[in-house]
Amino acid sequence: MGDETPPGTPKDEHRLTRRGVLGAGVLLGAGAGIDRLIGGQDGGSSPIPAGERGSLAEQVPFYAAHQAGIDTPAQECLQFAAFDLTSESIEALRDLMRLWTAAAVELTAGRPSTPHGTASQPSTAASDPGEALGLGPAALTITVGFGPGLFEKRGLGLQAHLPPELQELPAFEGDALDPARSGGEIAVQACSEDPQVAFHAIHVLRRLAAGTARLRWTQAGFGRTSVTTRGQHTLRNLMGFKDGTDNIRAEEGAEMERYVWVQDGDGPDWMSGGSYLIARRIRILFDGWDSLSVAEQERTVGRTKLSGAPLGEKAEHDAVNLTARNARGESVIPDTAHIRVASPLSNSGQRILRRGYSFSEPTVADEAGEIEAGLFFIAFQRSPLSQFVPLQTRLANFDALSRHTLHTSSAIFACPAGTAEGSYIGHALLS
Ligand code: HEM
Repeated sequence: MGDETPPGTPKDEHRLTRRGVLGAGVLLGAGAGIDRLIGGQDGGSSPIPAGERGSLAEQVPFYAAHQAGIDTPAQECLQFAAFDLTSESIEALRDLMRLWTAAAVELTAGRPSTPHGTASQPSTAASDPGEALGLGPAALTITVGFGPGLFEKRGLGLQAHLPPELQELPAFEGDALDPARSGGEIAVQACSEDPQVAFHAIHVLRRLAAGTARLRWTQAGFGRTSVTTRGQHTLRNLMGFKDGTDNIRAEEGAEMERYVWVQDGDGPDWMSGGSYLIARRIRILFDGWDSLSVAEQERTVGRTKLSGAPLGEKAEHDAVNLTARNARGESVIPDTAHIRVASPLSNSGQRILRRGYSFSEPTVADEAGEIEAGLFFIAFQRSPLSQFVPLQTRLANFDALSRHTLHTSSAIFACPAGTAEGSYIGHALLS
């Protein structure tokens, strides 16, 4: 995997323990104090212009060359669901994909799903439950992916079609994964401008899966932490920083082909035009993070909190200068700053398309009374093995931000290309 150390970085300096960094934060004890920075000036605190948020009337076409929900504009809300098959019949899986396709066409158009009986699922029990009536399409997208476990099911006979890139992710430094909310054989990412529309989609698809697949885990998300098309405003993650500034945009056609869409010859033909989805539920350790000063937080991220500008620059979209040094000869963007360690310049030029959401979950708090919340990180890429895996290896080892986070779930799915009218999701694999 090559040199994992950021330029000019003694390795030991970065093997800070989580406890050590949190302790340092408490010692600084300055509090975040963003209120003092805002002080009536702009620099990132003004509200999002009206009309820039997606509308309930907006419809994203389901039939397309690529699945919607990847390069289409990131919406406000997420419902993510992972399923395991309860049947090893390829016919049943095909029927399920036909049912889901028919439902997805209706739901993404803002219509209720109608009963679709089939030979293996003759019942009309899966008619629409009704909670999204009148809410409109709300830019709903439904993106489906297949997990590595699907290809191990002997009865399906798909073993020969497993893409070499679709491997369970390796363990990364500091991982605290809950197996019950990780993995899965089929995934559905439902994104919408309305939380109830996104929920409804998963509700309907789960009902249609009865007898063929069982829900394994779900994750709800709010507040997109990405920007996927030009003109979208950058919003803030739960750490208070603008997130998505340096993401790949759909309009960057060549970058999308190079880093997001699987190309002919990359692997099995059925994945051409598709993309690999990696999901990581990342809990934010707020006690330590909130006790850092704004300056400390900015050095951890490598960007200015209010404006989102890279340290040393003025505006959010100014270029990141990783070679700039201050009068004392130190890197302006510290060696362990998140954006330095995540930068394509530190990662053989590799980029990924981020499309994550914030999450917050009701729990009975532990003794410390910490909030169970963070970032449900989703990334799409052409090659997990040369994009996400080396990137996350570096972040887990060297990124100062990772000392304030805990990865609690992990999953990988192969999302095939889009569906043509008259066909069904995953047709190229299952036919
Ligand atoms: C709770 C966890 C995380 C938080 C709060 C977070 C936050 C941020 C922020 C604020 C930025 C700067 C703005 C931007 O360009 O979007 C950023 C950039 C970035 N992050 Fe993260 N991030 C997290 C986890 C991750 C993970 C797990 C990865 C990949 C494995 C990742 C990859 C990136 C990349 C590639 C960039 C852009 C770097 C560049 O091109 O300069 N982040 N992140």
